[in-house]
Amino acid sequence: MLKDQDRIFTNIYGLKDKSLKGAMARGHWDGTKQLLEMGRDWIINEVKNSGLRGRGGAGFPTGLKWSFMPKESDGRPHYLVVNADESEPGTCKDREIMRHDPHTLIEGCVIASFAMGAHHAYIYVRGEFMREREALQAAIDECYEAGLLGKNNKLGYDIDIVVHHGAGAYICGEETALLESLEGKKGQPRLKPPFPANMGLYGCPTTVNNVESIAVTPTILRRGAGWYASFGRANNTGTKLFSISGHVNRPCTVEESMSITFEELIEKHCGGIRGGWDNLLAVIPGGSSVPCVPGEQIRNAIMDYDGLRELGSGLGTAAVIVMDKSTDIVKAIWRLSAFYKHESCGQCTPCREGTGWMMRVMDRMVKGNAQKREIDMLFQVTKQVEGHTICALGDAAAWPIQGLIKHFRPVMEARIDEYTRNAVAHGVVMEA
Ligand code: NAI
Ligand code: SF4
Repeated sequence: MLKDQDRIFTNIYGLKDKSLKGAMARGHWDGTKQLLEMGRDWIINEVKNSGLRGRGGAGFPTGLKWSFMPKESDGRPHYLVVNADESEPGTCKDREIMRHDPHTLIEGCVIASFAMGAHHAYIYVRGEFMREREALQAAIDECYEAGLLGKNNKLGYDIDIVVHHGAGAYICGEETALLESLEGKKGQPRLKPPFPANMGLYGCPTTVNNVESIAVTPTILRRGAGWYASFGRANNTGTKLFSISGHVNRPCTVEESMSITFEELIEKHCGGIRGGWDNLLAVIPGGSSVPCVPGEQIRNAIMDYDGLRELGSGLGTAAVIVMDKSTDIVKAIWRLSAFYKHESCGQCTPCREGTGWMMRVMDRMVKGNAQKREIDMLFQVTKQVEGHTICALGDAAAWPIQGLIKHFRPVMEARIDEYTRNAVAHGVVMEA
């Protein structure tokens, strides 16, 4: 278990003073100028060596992403954009950072912007996050007053940070849809490549990073890449905020070492599974976009990118959704289908039509009003959507259903049998 002194987020539960003074007393903003004086290459190399991978869900190496930004200016401004549009069902970690520990993010923005030659950083905050936006803005205002931001500031690097609030569309958390939205257009994903480092905000070199990825970088630089890399295991290093919800005794968001086992995470921080381990049905370990894992497989799982991939799922945003045996698993996955259908931007056909198809078939699966062969048909539809769309929303809609069919097919079949029996008992003639 992570020791208190190794936690990067020192006020995640809001029990301490979140003002600039309070943050400084806890070690944030300590020696920031000296870190900038180490130079861009040193910063990027340290972040690379720390093994930090993007905490927004995809896990792309952060230092590598920063190194994609052009070294020399071709006259276009560079931008840092922080993706604070946290909307993945089950995910509530960036929210806590912005609410209670906003200076970790602001200091991170200064350092990351410097490393990439950006003089403007935009933080795109989910529309529903009003308190978070206010807390963040208050902290930014304090920094301007203290001479840490703006032109000719005490750190010796001109940087402005602008908070922009979204309007409540899940798809605006996709980085290119976010950029479109920030430019004042309809939030629809762009085709990649070109990636934002070449052609991002207003057609300029841009890096889009998740809140947590940016907020951890000042501490990584202060304590050293080796310190950060000492947590977790190779390719899965560092500490991570886990948001644990559902049928545990004490749901929470907690910073832990990567590669902790599921059992330790739940026992140490959540007081165990509601009704005990025998009552565990399934877990969605990485936010709603990854397949569920049955209870008997997850108990000893290593909670990191590789450990969960080996189980056919993923770490995603580390939003751990725990379901006990009282859960109607078919209905739970149907609910996700309805979510993705609602949030599809409608731009590409497999997603626009496929999410509707999947939701409608799932609708009948919940009731059992289906043929067993339609389970295979549903699986085929998910395969037609997966990998055939402009952005990852199509995959995200397909994977939970694939997980359901893979692990809980007998439950789906039993539901169909029961519906058929009831229908026949009531004199309804069922199609063969
Ligand atoms: P992605 O794998 O396409 O990209 C990840 C990042 O790496 C992006 O910034 C991308 O620009 C960069 N990248 C990837 N390949 C690159 C290359 N060859 N050259 C340069 N840059 C490259 O994944 P995406 O679509 O950005 O994110 C999907 C994930 O987002 C899902 O796994 C899901 O878990 C997560 N997600 C998180 C949400 C949240 O609320 N935090 C909401 C919805 C999804
Ligand atoms: Fe829009 Fe869905 Fe296509 Fe993404 S996959 S661009 S959300 S229609």
